[in-house]
Amino acid sequence: MPIFSSYESIVSDTFESERFIRICPLYGIIKSIGVKRRMEAIILAGGFGTRLRPLTYSRAKSLLPIMNKPMISYLIDMLPKEVDKVVLAVNYRKKQIEEFFESYDCGKEVIVNDEPKPLGTGGAVKFAEQHITDRFFVMNSDIICSLDLDEMIRFHETHHSKSTISLWPVENVSEFGVVEIKDDGNITRFVEKPRPEDAPSNLINAGAYLLEPFVFDYIKTGELISMEKQIFPQIIRDTNRFYGYHFKGYWMDIGRISSYLQVHEFLLKRRKQNNLIGENCKNHGDLKNSTLGNNVVIGKGSSVESSIIFDNAIIEEQVHLDHCVIGEQGVVGPRSKLTYSVVGDFETIPPESISENQPIWTQPIPEGYPKKQIGNVIGE
Ligand code: GDD
Ligand code: MG
Repeated sequence: MPIFSSYESIVSDTFESERFIRICPLYGIIKSIGVKRRMEAIILAGGFGTRLRPLTYSRAKSLLPIMNKPMISYLIDMLPKEVDKVVLAVNYRKKQIEEFFESYDCGKEVIVNDEPKPLGTGGAVKFAEQHITDRFFVMNSDIICSLDLDEMIRFHETHHSKSTISLWPVENVSEFGVVEIKDDGNITRFVEKPRPEDAPSNLINAGAYLLEPFVFDYIKTGELISMEKQIFPQIIRDTNRFYGYHFKGYWMDIGRISSYLQVHEFLLKRRKQNNLIGENCKNHGDLKNSTLGNNVVIGKGSSVESSIIFDNAIIEEQVHLDHCVIGEQGVVGPRSKLTYSVVGDFETIPPESISENQPIWTQPIPEGYPKKQIGNVIGE
């Protein structure tokens, strides 16, 4: 995309810093004619996705298909028009992400920003600083939601906010970042993954932030830093203008296999579809509330319920799948019965297998993949 593609970008390229824009004599005029500032976005896509094993042994979490489209494409589709550059903060499976964007034109400049080692959510944001020139979004890459980012910009501006985060109410807050908030949306405290009894409210960080460049000054270069645990509390303390934008609609975090299955059921229902069937599939069985990728074969007498089948998988005859995920090129042998099980990419399940609540993976675990979950530092 050319750098000076429109009057809008000329304005923001010329007056890069927010401070300069405000002291510029033209600022009032620019504002009153509604010229929008050029913006950038950082998408945090570096986690290993350990809670989505075995699917993430062979692919980046952000490329997991949701209704047959990689999760990251939903985030990119959400970005407002004035965001013309997207920095993908990656480390694990960086090559896969690069390959995906080589063949997918999202209409924005995409920079794959590879961290030498996982730097945590804060460290990854700092590592992207060189590509950011003005106000910017930061987005977790594992959320599917109805958040309107244009509305969020308006909220940020009308509240003269220094940092704005999206908020969503949940019942069980302990897996999330939780805020203490005033009626006008001013956040007075942020606690990451509190014990339920310590949670200041039921409003959680929904994983999208609108930030101003001063935030970079809070993050040390090259260090493992959590935005949520270390940086947010400092910004709240120092600026007193850290706001929460509570939106309506839907929000889902795709952190676990259960939520991965749930988001499919939810989106099928929302689109009023019984099933989603990709290209060139041969279905000789019964399908209910399920998603099939491309070139999937379902044999005679088989039933597939509330399940997700990736591209090129083969489900042989008389197989019963209920709440399962079958990875790419997976083969499920005849007369098998699988419930709440996840078969990794390229795995073959022998005939007459029975599996309940099992992750199935027989290949070597990739080098560097964490043996246990390590919070949101390197991505669960
Ligand atoms: N580049 C990079 N480097 N990205 C990372 C790293 C890293 O070291 N660690 C995590 N990420 C990415 C993940 O891929 C994910 O998109 C995002 O940062 C958040 O990390 P998660 O591991 O998914 O965190 P979480 O789900 O436990 O908690 C976060 O999301 C919740 C909402 O879903 C926090 O932001 C919570 O406060 C929030 O409520
Ligand atoms: Mg997450």
